[in-house]
Amino acid sequence: MARRFLAVLGLAATACVLVVASAEAQSYPTRPITVIVPFAAGGPTDVVARIVGDHMGRTLGQQIVVENVVGAGGTTGITKGAAATPDGHTIMMGHMGTHGAAPALYKNLKYDPTKDFAPIGIAAGTPIVVVARKDFPPKNLQELIAHLKSSGDKVNEGHAGVGSVSFTTCTMFNVMTGAKPTRVPYSGTGPVINDMLAGKLDYACDQIVSVATQVQGGTIKAYAIATEERSPALPDVPTSAEAGMPDFKVSAWNALFAPKGTSKEIVVKLNDALSRALSDPATRKRLGDLGGVIPEGRARTPEHLAQFVASEVERWGKTIKAGGVLTKKTVRTPCRT
Ligand code: MLT
Repeated sequence: MARRFLAVLGLAATACVLVVASAEAQSYPTRPITVIVPFAAGGPTDVVARIVGDHMGRTLGQQIVVENVVGAGGTTGITKGAAATPDGHTIMMGHMGTHGAAPALYKNLKYDPTKDFAPIGIAAGTPIVVVARKDFPPKNLQELIAHLKSSGDKVNEGHAGVGSVSFTTCTMFNVMTGAKPTRVPYSGTGPVINDMLAGKLDYACDQIVSVATQVQGGTIKAYAIATEERSPALPDVPTSAEAGMPDFKVSAWNALFAPKGTSKEIVVKLNDALSRALSDPATRKRLGDLGGVIPEGRARTPEHLAQFVASEVERWGKTIKAGGVLTKKTVRTPCRT
């Protein structure tokens, strides 16, 4: 009798939890949503978060507030996000570095990109552009490579910390070209580009959404984009293959994640809001004008992001172990399934 009573009690309790959870999901969000950007304001991850956040806030009926939490190539901010209360009011914008390369570069990483998150969806693909200050002597990629090889550590390269996209992709570039610059860490590529504009920094490998406006305006120069085709946002910038470096092909990506334990209903609401943003003509134009690549179809789903993160962790693990050289076989485009 007592056992039956306890069983019924247990069922009732579970039912209560489920009722409460779905009630919470129905009323979600009940206050502004914080999106942690693990790099400085003005950089590519910040730019993508603010562009999609604008429209998502309108869909969800609550403001999306960006909180920049910098450090350790983005892993500081993501560690904070992973530990947040899983009620959907704190999410984060991760990327190829924080959720791909970081496990191979940080032995004591406090999160597992494949286990400790509820993936929401890819926000944008962001091809890599090799850029430099506008008065840097080399006129094209081959001259740049020769200049870097002959200058050694007299030239400086800026990046957003070990494990960041700019660090990881320029490691590949430097290994493939034999360049040995002085590498200068920043809290994001927003400040990297500021110092490049001020003539204090020579070159960097950055995500197109961070540099497109400057390159279009002629305030910094671009040597190559590391993709198969030129970007419609920078039609005059040659591909790495056109510039004589066919093996340097890499695209980054930025994606939204919630902490593990965030309910499926809330993840579905967030994914729906992100997808509506990516279908919105004005949002598409803002991302497109900066060279952002918008995911379509299944590439917008949380399931695709979960699988993609697992494959990126594996790919970067191999690449970094092999010493940073990326071969044709391992090139992958994040926004197409
Ligand atoms: C940023 O937003 O500053 C970048 O994503 C940093 C990087 O990973 O290069």
